[in-house]
Amino acid sequence: MAAGDQRKVIPVADPAALAQIAADRVLARISANSGRVAICLTGGSSPTKLYRLLATDPYRSRIPWHRVHWFIGDERFVPASDPRNNMAMARRTFLDACAPAANVHPIATDTADPEQSAHAYERELKSFYGAENLDPARPLFEMVLLGVGPDGHIASLFPEYPAIKEATRWVVGVPEAHVEPFVPRVSLTLPALNSCREILFEIAGAEKRAILTRVFDGENLPASRARAMGETIWLVDQAALPEDFRG
Ligand code: 6PG
Repeated sequence: MAAGDQRKVIPVADPAALAQIAADRVLARISANSGRVAICLTGGSSPTKLYRLLATDPYRSRIPWHRVHWFIGDERFVPASDPRNNMAMARRTFLDACAPAANVHPIATDTADPEQSAHAYERELKSFYGAENLDPARPLFEMVLLGVGPDGHIASLFPEYPAIKEATRWVVGVPEAHVEPFVPRVSLTLPALNSCREILFEIAGAEKRAILTRVFDGENLPASRARAMGETIWLVDQAALPEDFRG
């Protein structure tokens, strides 16, 4: 697969339109591959509308649930019963109702510490991928969903933290968060997140406009370094859209 395309920004009206276009893209990515498909989900509040849509027709009945595997890009190191747990949110909103349990791949948080969870998840990803090293021509994920934090972080890769520089490991423990909730995290690294056919950002709300302006201006932030092997798509609603992108 060729090196990643330039970033593509798709302006949309509002969060409802954003979720619908995102759901269409998820479905298109799944349909384009007739085999086993891996999708990396995101936490935070941005994807909840999308997740609800996926559990609703026409999406629900068109997704071949038996051959889609759902991973998570980062986890807060809190029990699965805690409302702040990212995979628990995805389970509640769509996975428990739709996906076979064996196709849901959470990051365990009942281990001794985030490092141990990171090692276990890295092993799980490598076993799914069937290799110890990422092949630049063969993506780990069909699609990676991402949101952006107010400091420009993606997953739990915060600006200037060691995890953002990780070049070898696929998953790392992050002892301290840079933004709320202030709990330790476990995060996929840039090499793992970027090993995909498509990265799909979902960005909505006026509070995202300032950070988006910085990312689109080319500032060296984690979000600026997300680059899929295929397409890197930014779905941005009107409220979040920086001035330069307004029609
Ligand atoms: C997390 C996330 C994080 C999130 C962004 C955006 O665990 O918090 O995975 O990277 O996607 O902070 O969060 P919102 O969608 O809540 O704005």
